[in-house]
Amino acid sequence: MICHIEVYGCQMNVHDGEILSGILKAAGHTVVDNAKIAEAVFVVTCAVREHAETRALGRVTHLAGIPEKKPVMVLCGCVAQEHGQRLLEKMKLLDMVIGPDVYHKIPELLHERRRIAVTEQGIENYEHVTAVREQFPRSFVTVMRGCDNFCTYCIVPHVRGRERSRPAELIFKEVEGLVEAGYREITLLGQNVNSYIHNGIDFPKLLEKVSVIAGDRCWVRFVTSHPRDLTMELASVMASGKNICNQFHLPAQSGNDRVLKAMGRGYTRNEYLHKVTMLKDLMPDIVLSTDMIAGFPGESLEEFEDTVSLLKEVRYDYAFLFRYSEREKTAALKISPAVPVKERLRRLSILQDIQAEITKEESKKIIGMEMPVLVTGPARRPGQMASRTMGNRLVILESLDFTPGQLVQVKIVKADGYTHFGRPVSL
Ligand code: SAH
Ligand code: SF4
Ligand code: F3S
Repeated sequence: MICHIEVYGCQMNVHDGEILSGILKAAGHTVVDNAKIAEAVFVVTCAVREHAETRALGRVTHLAGIPEKKPVMVLCGCVAQEHGQRLLEKMKLLDMVIGPDVYHKIPELLHERRRIAVTEQGIENYEHVTAVREQFPRSFVTVMRGCDNFCTYCIVPHVRGRERSRPAELIFKEVEGLVEAGYREITLLGQNVNSYIHNGIDFPKLLEKVSVIAGDRCWVRFVTSHPRDLTMELASVMASGKNICNQFHLPAQSGNDRVLKAMGRGYTRNEYLHKVTMLKDLMPDIVLSTDMIAGFPGESLEEFEDTVSLLKEVRYDYAFLFRYSEREKTAALKISPAVPVKERLRRLSILQDIQAEITKEESKKIIGMEMPVLVTGPARRPGQMASRTMGNRLVILESLDFTPGQLVQVKIVKADGYTHFGRPVSL
């Protein structure tokens, strides 16, 4: 069949889309970008916030109408896991609803052509699937799946199941293959990479070995780390591995101790700040980012101010800011009083304004600096190429004389927060 895949949500979902593509191709199907000619359409969905869920379901309705003949519509990902059979009953245009642990069954199910919801949650690691990667020269490698943290606002542990680590040998083999195939960047993926453990190999050891295998020509990153589990050992491995990117996503969620406790995060503001200091001491040029939630149930105005002050104190390069969204099955649903939606939005926009300013100021600090960038592909505007710094900053090169995968030494000449402009310099 001619298949089209659309993916929403986090990097884990993006990579699951590549795994799904691998499964379909191995079964003899063709995967195309053009939805018009598709006979089967797959939407890989995210359930982390209500908005993400609504948007993905909206796309299902839209996509079903694109091909001339109604395609087989398959809903995958976290919304599929969350609603399963219920969704199949409610959305008549869906033919299949398939949770993130059962993609390997899709070829067989396509063959059977039944309307069905399959949402078994198991220990699936897709160990024997060859993912079809779409983002050369960048690549994702899953190290662990699932999450056991059960932060009280979060649906991920409910839809992604329990934590399981992939065997280290398989990860090393996959990395070797990617380096051989010319990939120049590897991002190790997991909801909580610091929990990685397999036959005595923990995450710092895994990262160290991956960095050695990747060698001089390939950069290594990872997401996401839980601040509670960030150790000195991990920070030292990062600081000493020359190809390990000086970038850290360290989601704080709140700057207030009582709220952090109600969220079940397992650290205090001070403990969090100590870890930030440890990272900055070891890697002064580190690019730091965070996630914050505004209007968690019971969050008072004073408590919210602590989140504002944390943004100002850490001065993150980037922050992903969200208003609290009620999610099924999560413990925070029982916490009262809820902050009114309007007030959540008001707090969110305060955080956004403050962070926008900080992001801009921090990015201007690199103007005039020279650094290597990895060319990733054409930029949005014609005549320009896009590239990334080791800190994962986007740098635009105003020329087409570069190929994806090339490392170029540039001087940063302009910066406005998210976009930087670089002029090549000769070494
Ligand atoms: N495992 C990752 C994040 C997964 S979800 C981690 O622990 O960092 C990505 C982000 O979505 C979270 O960090 C959180 O800030 C946000 N998020 C999760 N559930 C949410 C909810 N119910 N409402 C608003 N934001 C939420
Ligand atoms: Fe969700 Fe917390 Fe797990 Fe991250 S660590 S996925 S926020 S439960
Ligand atoms: Fe969303 Fe599922 Fe990722 S809920 S954030 S796509 S794990």
